Amino acid sequence: MAYQWNANLYQQKHAFVYQYGSSLVDWLVPKAGEEILDLGCGTGELTEQIAQSGAKVIGVDQSEEMVEQAKRQYPIITFYTQDATQLSDLPQFDAVFSNAALHWMKDAQAVLKQVYQHLKPAGRLVAELGGKGNIAQIISALNRQRAKLGYPVIDTSEQWFFPSVGEYSNLLELVGFEVQQVQYFHRDTALAKDGIKVWIKMFAERWMADVEADQYEELLEATQESLRAALYHEGTWYADYKRLRILAVKV
Ligand code: BEZ
Repeated sequence: MAYQWNANLYQQKHAFVYQYGSSLVDWLVPKAGEEILDLGCGTGELTEQIAQSGAKVIGVDQSEEMVEQAKRQYPIITFYTQDATQLSDLPQFDAVFSNAALHWMKDAQAVLKQVYQHLKPAGRLVAELGGKGNIAQIISALNRQRAKLGYPVIDTSEQWFFPSVGEYSNLLELVGFEVQQVQYFHRDTALAKDGIKVWIKMFAERWMADVEADQYEELLEATQESLRAALYHEGTWYADYKRLRILAVKV
């Protein structure tokens, strides 16, 4: 199922997505004149950061709404709405960059094949995605509260792919990449006010779609409250993010 993005809610309450992604640009080390594809560019903030190096960047995203917002914000950068499993009419790039997008693309092998084909020889893929165990506490809490109200258990693999280091390295190698750097780390991520509830509305709406209207707020509230001891510290809610960063080269 294609995910429907709300670009305004994304920018107002979830700016942390591209703010954290800023340090991933340090892995990319973009150079003036390089041709770079930002895959899953969202509203374009990191595309613009990469463009500041003098690189020629194109941003693509599967969400038309995100791409429209990106075009409004950065009219001199080229953005396209495209599905990463079918990157048509695009040339080969010196690098493909992707922040917090690949875990939404469940057919990871098809996506990596497309990326490989769209890289020049020795081109690099620099990416960060949710890794094994990502948001496991939020999902378990949501599942417990759903079960109390008689709703079925969520299977997150229907929506997201959170691979381990081994699993993702293996996929990259199968496609032909040489994996040059991998990092897996826990990054509890500070959320806006009413953090878990807003996070669920923004990113996990799929798992609320079957909830009766009169139980919706109750379910969100109970889920958030059950996470207070684990994910609320000194006035701030956190999401239990686990990140996987990779630098892989086309050989
Ligand atoms: C993530 O960035 O890890 C993520 C964001 C939204 C939904 C699931 C995971």
